Amino acid sequence: TREAIDPVRFLSNHSSGRMGFAVAAAAAEAGAAVTLISGPVSLATPPGVQRIDVESAADMYAAVMQAVTSTDIFISVAAVADYRPAVPAPQKIKKESAEISLDLIRNPDILAAVAALPDAPFTAGFAAETESIVSNAQDKRLAKGVDMIAANRVGAGLGFNSEENALHVFWEKGEQVLPVTGKVKLARQLLNLIAEQFQRSHHQEKVIKFNAKDSA
Ligand code: PMT
Repeated sequence: TREAIDPVRFLSNHSSGRMGFAVAAAAAEAGAAVTLISGPVSLATPPGVQRIDVESAADMYAAVMQAVTSTDIFISVAAVADYRPAVPAPQKIKKESAEISLDLIRNPDILAAVAALPDAPFTAGFAAETESIVSNAQDKRLAKGVDMIAANRVGAGLGFNSEENALHVFWEKGEQVLPVTGKVKLARQLLNLIAEQFQRSHHQEKVIKFNAKDSA
């Protein structure tokens, strides 16, 4: 796969922990120029990766939309909050009443927004599911209009904050199960699939045309 994705500019977003960093590391290892947009985590930046730190979902949206224009592949690993408080409290909320309620409003869907761009890169998302993994992941791929979805079961000891993970990866014309293993190894296997499907996709034609124009 090194050859397969050698010329590719690659963007990964990540918020919570290990999986996104492993994907960014695997892409850099494979020879891609990688920008990692990360929420607040205490993880070391993988060698050869350019990192942009953000705090909120809105910050991540802005950073991704700015960086994505020069990107061939976008991988969205971050567990971005779907909602945010409508009115953030400027100070600590005092416990005066027995119950309080919080009004929440939807955050923009970063992955769907990237996939909807007129000149969208190849897009790969993750789907964190607790049930009906296959149907939920396939629905998510279609609803967000993305090229590939890597579904993982999350729950007690699975997915989040663990050293290992397992993926069921779907694209338009195929699927593959990547059985449970360390996140670094799994990220390399996922990158192989992404490189294969990227090469088969119409996005690759754009890169070839672009390169042809470049060298003319
Ligand atoms: O970080 P770790 O501790 O290693 O855990 C790994 C992981 C479980 C976080 C990772 O493998 C994973 O599943 N990440 C995606 C979790 C998630 O947000 O799934 P979702 O089904 O809610 O979102 C689907 C896709 O839309 C994801 O690609 C997500 O990045 C994207 N999304 C979601 C909400 C939003 N506002 N914007 C988005 O782009």
